[in-house]
Amino acid sequence: MTEKPPAPPLHAVDVHSYAQPHLVAAKHVELDLTVDFDKKILSGWAELIVSRPDPSEPLIVDTRDLAIHKVEAATGEKGERTPVKFTLGPADKILGAPLTIDLPSGADRARIHYTTSPGASALQWLDPAQTAGKKRPFLFTQSQAIHARSWIPLQDSPGVRTTYRARIRTPKDLIALMSARRDFRLGNPKEEPTGDYTFRMPHRIPSYLIALAVGDLGYHHFGHRTGVWAEPAELDRASKEFDDTEKMIQAAEKLYGPYAWLKYELLVLPPSFPFGGMENPLLTFVTPTVIAGDKSLVSLVAHELAHSWSGNLVTNATWRDFWLNEGFTVYVERRIQEAVYGEPRARMEAVLGRRELEEELKKLPPADQILHLDLKGRDPDDGVTSVAYEKGALFLLALEQAFGRERFDQFLLRYFNTFRFQSITTADFRAFLDKNLLSTDPAAAAKVPVEEWVTQPGIPASAPQPTCELFTPVEEAAKNWGAKVPETKSWNTHQWLHFLRAFPQDLGRAKMESLDRAFHFTKSSNSEIISQWLLMAVRNQYEPAYPKLEEFLTSVGRRKFLRPLYEELVKTPAGKARAEAIYAKARPGYHPISAGSIDLIVGRK
Ligand code: BES
Ligand code: ZN
Repeated sequence: MTEKPPAPPLHAVDVHSYAQPHLVAAKHVELDLTVDFDKKILSGWAELIVSRPDPSEPLIVDTRDLAIHKVEAATGEKGERTPVKFTLGPADKILGAPLTIDLPSGADRARIHYTTSPGASALQWLDPAQTAGKKRPFLFTQSQAIHARSWIPLQDSPGVRTTYRARIRTPKDLIALMSARRDFRLGNPKEEPTGDYTFRMPHRIPSYLIALAVGDLGYHHFGHRTGVWAEPAELDRASKEFDDTEKMIQAAEKLYGPYAWLKYELLVLPPSFPFGGMENPLLTFVTPTVIAGDKSLVSLVAHELAHSWSGNLVTNATWRDFWLNEGFTVYVERRIQEAVYGEPRARMEAVLGRRELEEELKKLPPADQILHLDLKGRDPDDGVTSVAYEKGALFLLALEQAFGRERFDQFLLRYFNTFRFQSITTADFRAFLDKNLLSTDPAAAAKVPVEEWVTQPGIPASAPQPTCELFTPVEEAAKNWGAKVPETKSWNTHQWLHFLRAFPQDLGRAKMESLDRAFHFTKSSNSEIISQWLLMAVRNQYEPAYPKLEEFLTSVGRRKFLRPLYEELVKTPAGKARAEAIYAKARPGYHPISAGSIDLIVGRK
């Protein structure tokens, strides 16, 4: 008789997965999938290679909307595969359905034959019309937080790490890319489309970092390990915008140690991509809305790159610990920005970040203002607020200021080295912090109320208050608008954003008009500026911007822009009617993740 493995401590239990990794844990995943654009499905198999701390227990994996055709088990790579019994449990709205697989004694792998559903939450299937080239379809995945289970049956928990290999079969003229090394032994070294691609990820990563994109793609390389993929029509603009990528990696490496993933490539997605960026290892996914033409929005690249340390090397063990991913990443992002573009730019971004946090805190219930958030019974997406991002980063900045940069930099370097390729909880971080920083200097430690930062709502009174003198004239200009014409020739995007946000919410139509006359905001092609302006237009019923509003909402799928605009629209009856009319047109083009969020706002089903 083997003894039962001990249950994990409560703080490490992932309430968003049915898997019981302390009993049976996946350590490697093999995929063989065919991409069918006509039916909008992936079909094939996933094989999970497992370790079995308790050999009497079944393997439990997460699924959502998958059709499971057959499961085979085997012992060893060459072992014979034999069909085994499996049961698909009832589907929970948030979690999906557990698939329980009876593993024969000694078996160490299960091959699951399955098909995805056309509505799979991780997948967006784009018609040619939704792409830049308009000729070929496009597919991409978005697995974070718990969508991987809608395209791969696996233990979908960030506490479970696996290596993976994949073979992807596509229409012959399209290229498939994954968050892994392209395997040239079976593929084609010249990257000519073959329709048959293989990949390998030799490091253990959490499931939310498994990613796939298929489309008509071109490549531009910056250096030996950096480059950008985009549709051919977008490639030129993208490669100019992102050509500081290598500098950013070097800046991060100088602070936090060598880049661990061999290559760093960006993939520019069509505009319906629901996020700004996604840190898929070796292949960051980015929205085309950050290509402003002047590199003003590339902090997003710094952010996703920073995840190569915070998040992808050291990973939140559960979605409660999400701030370990995002708070650290925003902190590192600003350090990269400072190194590459100078201190003023990093400071402006910190000021804008703190402002955003303060605005969001006004709307969030106290329980959602806590870094170590309780998400039981909730969708982990509910935890994606500026609390994890900006409050998390502000906490680290408070530590940096209390202990001094030199000591804090050493601490972070040691943190990344100690926990590399591991998933950790907030408690793990706190123990490490106590031992390696707080206890080394009680006087400095006394300046940072760590318990309050991690477990209480709001922002501690002692929190840093970032400032930037470049914002002073901007604030003056907003205050004196109407009385004095400001000198704005040298203003950058950050200053314009700060300027717009400095106005009261109800500034009124007349001021909206005069601002537009002076600066043509309605014509802005900078996505951050136009979305801020459109928000003000809705608030103040500034009709001349409505056509632009409709165009924006029907062409961009980035949830960060969509959500506030729809939320503002539905506040009045006329706005609600407008929102419904626009949404009826726009929804078919949105990603299921964005559509799901907007459904709630507009009150669909
Ligand atoms: N990992 C996140 C995106 C994410 C978080 C997807 C949670 C699903 C669930 C990514 O790194 C991110 O934070 N993206 C931001 C951009 C960033 C510059 C703040 C975004 O998409 O807006
Ligand atoms: Zn992030």
